[in-house]
Amino acid sequence: MHREKAFLRTNHANMLQQNRYDYYYYLLISFLFITLLQICTSKDTITANESFKDGDLLVSNGNYFAFGFFSPGSSVNRHIGIWYNKVPEQTVVWVANRDNPINGTSGIVFLEKSGNLVLRDESRNLLLWSTNVSGTLSATSSFSVQLTETGNLALFQDQIRSIVAWQSFDYPTNTLLPHMKVGVNRKTGLIPVMTSWKSQDDPGTGDFRFKMELNGSPQFFLYKGSDRQWRTGPWNGIQLSGVPDMTSKFIFTVSYVDNDDEVSLSYSIRDPSIFSRLVLNESGTLERLTWQGGEGKWVKFWAAPKDQCDFYSHCGGFSDCDPYNLGEFECQCLPGFEPKVKSEWYLRDPINGCSKKQEQQTCGNSTDGFVKLTFVKVPDTSNARVNKSLGLKECEDMCLKNCLCTAYTSANISSGGGSGCITWYGDLIDMRQFSNGGQDVYIRVTAAELAQILKNSKGSNSRKLVIIVVPSVAGVLLLLFVSCLVLKNIKGHEGKRQYIKRLLSLNISPKSSYGGSSTTKEMDESADLIIFDLKTIISATDHFSFANKLGEGGFGSVYKGRLHNGREIAIKRLSKSSGQGIEEFKNEVTLIARLQHRNLVKLLGCCIQQEEKMLVYEYLPNKGLDNFIFDKEKRALLNWRKRFEIILGIARGIVYLHRDSRLRIIHRDLKASNVLLDAAMEPKISDFGMARIFGAGQMEANTNRVVGTYGYMSPEYAMQGLFSDKSDVFSYGVLLLEIISGRKNSSYFHDNAINLIGYVWDLWKEGKALEIVDQSMGGSFNQDEVQRCIQIGLLCVQEHATDRPNMSQVLSMLSNETSLPSVSLKQPAFILKKVNNNNNNNNNNSNVPYSSSASIGALSVDDVTITMVQVR
Ligand SMILES: *[C@@H]1O[C@H](CO)[C@@H](O)[C@H](O)[C@H]1NC(C)=O
Ligand SMILES: *[C@@H]1O[C@H](CO)[C@@H](O)[C@H](O)[C@H]1NC(C)=O
Repeated sequence: MHREKAFLRTNHANMLQQNRYDYYYYLLISFLFITLLQICTSKDTITANESFKDGDLLVSNGNYFAFGFFSPGSSVNRHIGIWYNKVPEQTVVWVANRDNPINGTSGIVFLEKSGNLVLRDESRNLLLWSTNVSGTLSATSSFSVQLTETGNLALFQDQIRSIVAWQSFDYPTNTLLPHMKVGVNRKTGLIPVMTSWKSQDDPGTGDFRFKMELNGSPQFFLYKGSDRQWRTGPWNGIQLSGVPDMTSKFIFTVSYVDNDDEVSLSYSIRDPSIFSRLVLNESGTLERLTWQGGEGKWVKFWAAPKDQCDFYSHCGGFSDCDPYNLGEFECQCLPGFEPKVKSEWYLRDPINGCSKKQEQQTCGNSTDGFVKLTFVKVPDTSNARVNKSLGLKECEDMCLKNCLCTAYTSANISSGGGSGCITWYGDLIDMRQFSNGGQDVYIRVTAAELAQILKNSKGSNSRKLVIIVVPSVAGVLLLLFVSCLVLKNIKGHEGKRQYIKRLLSLNISPKSSYGGSSTTKEMDESADLIIFDLKTIISATDHFSFANKLGEGGFGSVYKGRLHNGREIAIKRLSKSSGQGIEEFKNEVTLIARLQHRNLVKLLGCCIQQEEKMLVYEYLPNKGLDNFIFDKEKRALLNWRKRFEIILGIARGIVYLHRDSRLRIIHRDLKASNVLLDAAMEPKISDFGMARIFGAGQMEANTNRVVGTYGYMSPEYAMQGLFSDKSDVFSYGVLLLEIISGRKNSSYFHDNAINLIGYVWDLWKEGKALEIVDQSMGGSFNQDEVQRCIQIGLLCVQEHATDRPNMSQVLSMLSNETSLPSVSLKQPAFILKKVNNNNNNNNNNSNVPYSSSASIGALSVDDVTITMVQVR
């Protein structure tokens, strides 16, 4: 009995044990099942003998894209296509059976014996879609279809997946993904065309198409049915001539390929976690949208066509469309042309365009000249001729020799002077004006017109045109004659020689060419510089109102202004102390206006009147870099990629100033607030000509005034007033460290270090330099790159100028072209001395980096440029 009980007990225990095993067994099975299910659902390939049904899914490696059956919008129809796997709002980027939807879930996808991928409706036994590759395919079992990481559905015809027989990237629907190409395949003749959907609920082929055409110089056209809506213009080495805001910057890289195999355009994104797509939407707009996870929606980044001037041939032949001509008719005839039907034109109906004013001269008239239009989209190149081997001068000669040639320009403007040659014969269609970007186009005019234009140019306003005079004897004689005529009318003290020089590159208004009268005289243009009228500036800034004040610096105050035509400008009102005469100042500004680089703020002109001297710049909406890197919230907008691009851009700008520009300018006041950011966050150095304007005697070694900003001044400059390009290198080093750390050099206190440089140096010695990195970048950055930048920063701030690299070396180290010097870093300036200065100034900070022998006057707050007079 006792035994029996014992037995029962053990038996019971065994049973419990058994139950537990069952439980584990069950768990294991379900675990296996779930994993198996996951493996099944997250596969990215369909092989021969497999079929793919409604409900199945292919997911690309990296999980970015999915392929399967879906219903668009509120429709119940089924289509197969590709969408973003990680974007919660279903966003379809490609559709196979656009025009043949399936009614119900009976669709099935599989590889046919021929090797083609097909979609059939099983219930109706109907072929709905096929990759339709023929000929080269041989029926084997080695075919497979894969959804790649980039969102491309590729049909491979060999086992190792190296030969693509067909791919969805070649047959875009309405979306261009990164790495996808639009253009023409010269080998196969294939032209990928983007076509809009019919509606949000119907991915069927809509009315709008976007595709490349090869005639003349390749361009893209947007069509509605058979009507041209928009033209991008040809690629000019930097961008499509009609899309100046599409360049490789920010996060995008645009690549254009033109070789024997293909002509194509594609873009990629440097940060794969950013989702961006270019869509031809149902209303015929090409939109770039980026996914903003935080807001949970797609946000518009860019769109075209934008304004009326984008619409193809809006103003008819031989005209230019200027959307910035606010309040006035946007269409203007080209120089030497007049409205074909004046009555229509004055009612602002440009449909018939413009025609030549006088009858065309007899062929080969060597007195013809050219008028240069700047910042324009080149005319339709469908009938133009391209010669890539000619330079601009030869291009001009070629155009001049052929009396049918109406205009010419450079084919590639990526190098300074431009290269290659495009010439037009006959109509000039679809030109427009840009406020920035675009390129120069030279329009042919007869000698008589040239004289007329010159005569009318006095006192005219607005846009820039430059007359190029043809260097033939007859031309020069004629020009001298004309200039004598004009000279007679000139009041004032301008010398004859100077005037003739000006005449050679005179700026005139195109208004005169159609007789539209301009009411306000806003500016008088001289050489490449616009001389603004004081009244214009006063009204643009609303009497220098406080609301329009952007900032204040050692050189004067800066105001925002808006011209009558709507263009925004920034005006620097110089303090009276520059000590330059008017002519001197004007010459100086003219020189500086010619410095042009994408990383320098563009100087548009100046205003000199009464006591006032002002410089007028392009206005940059994002303002100074300091507004971002030192701001608690905005700093998070700059991730390491962007910061690194800014670091590179600034370096490029300085290299240009130091080495590549004709003037070899030392900036002397580089700092975060003097680096402005444009709409695409590209850095632009401002105030770069100031040192020259205020310079002269102050630029020598025995300088008696020091211009600069606390925290950015090199020791030799701050203490002895000595400066060279190496003092800019020093300031750049400080700026570099500030960009990485998001902290100001001058207001940084930590442990024993008196400023940021000292702190970085301490950490560097301990091998912990990465600790300075701005936390708001969220730790996502390339450590080697940051480490390298910190080292370059420290190289730049070394105490002795001779130890510092020059800016070209800095740039090549940054871009990894040269390795960093193996010599060990020397201690930077200003890190040991916690100077107790006994100067009677109102600055309580103990980090003033001067020896106490310097007497300092005119001090102001930290990051404002100061002017000091040294008594020695
Ligand atoms: C396949 O190509 C033929 C001719 O090339 C065409 O008529 C047919 O419509 C195509 N089929 C599909 C499903 O695209
Ligand atoms: C197409 O894009 C334009 C520009 O972004 C937008 O205004 C318009 O609403 C879009 N149309 C549709 C149907 O989404």
